[in-house]
Amino acid sequence: MKLAQRMTLKQLRALVAVADSASFTQAARLLHLTQPAISMQIRDAEAIVGQVLVDGRREIRLTPAGEILVRAARQALHGLELAEVELKARIGVAAGTLDVVAITTAEYFVPYLLAEFGRRFPDITFRLTVANREHVRALLQEQRCDVAIMGQPPRGLDLRRIPFAPHRLSFVARPDHRLAGRKRIPPAALTEERLLLREQGSGTRDNLERFLRAHGVKPLAADELGSNETLKQAVMAGMGIAFLSHHTFAMEVESGRLVRLDVVDTPVIREWNVVSRTDRPMTPALDALLEFLQTEGAARMRGMERWARIAIGARQKKTR
Ligand code: PGA
Repeated sequence: MKLAQRMTLKQLRALVAVADSASFTQAARLLHLTQPAISMQIRDAEAIVGQVLVDGRREIRLTPAGEILVRAARQALHGLELAEVELKARIGVAAGTLDVVAITTAEYFVPYLLAEFGRRFPDITFRLTVANREHVRALLQEQRCDVAIMGQPPRGLDLRRIPFAPHRLSFVARPDHRLAGRKRIPPAALTEERLLLREQGSGTRDNLERFLRAHGVKPLAADELGSNETLKQAVMAGMGIAFLSHHTFAMEVESGRLVRLDVVDTPVIREWNVVSRTDRPMTPALDALLEFLQTEGAARMRGMERWARIAIGARQKKTR
């Protein structure tokens, strides 16, 4: 086989792109190539390896041989990216591409932080993935991201966690809901409500379940709807009430389409963390991002929080 002598970086990149997108067309788009060019790279790689790497009979999937090669390809490509960063660092530039993964709820603020960071460090580019908890865990476990921005870090991995901002969560309802505008609603009042839930395993869901358990509340009924956006739409449609992060609903509260319910012991306050593997090599770019999140990033988050508090507070006064 003599892979190291015969395989090319083009083939490795094509294979990783097919693995990531599970599609030849998508992979071609990612690499700015044509689809036949991608197929050719994969066929050539298969000829060198002497085994089928991609199984395309029904859906595009890596074979076990393909998995082995993709793992090695990722390491090789990552090694080159690190070398690029080090080479740039020699001439004093924090540069390179950072793989950032944001847990679903963090998509409401992470772009604002990266926009600011990008202005400071124009030589650093991003690959931002928004993913649910299970996917974030897999990306951390497989060394496929530099940092994850999330609430509670997943268990069982060797991770470093830096808290950088508070995270508030509350119940929201439609403005014509019977509890809207009421002060100091006892959690027991929620037993009469139909509650709309995020999917099992989501941080938001976890926080809600802890709150309900702590107050011994069992809602009338509960529907699982999956995403923050769907939950908001369902609340606005009058399907029930939901427990959500303030980041997700401040805008709807400001425009009068939702209200925060003043339930006793809410907002629940947790924290946002930047999480990375302890064995992830520290690069100047990663170092710059961590430093930024703890200083200017945290200050920006306080600014966003202040805005959300004012928006939510002002609207609550009007509803009373
Ligand atoms: P979620 O996570 O978007 O899965 O609800 C938020 C969090 O990590 O707290």
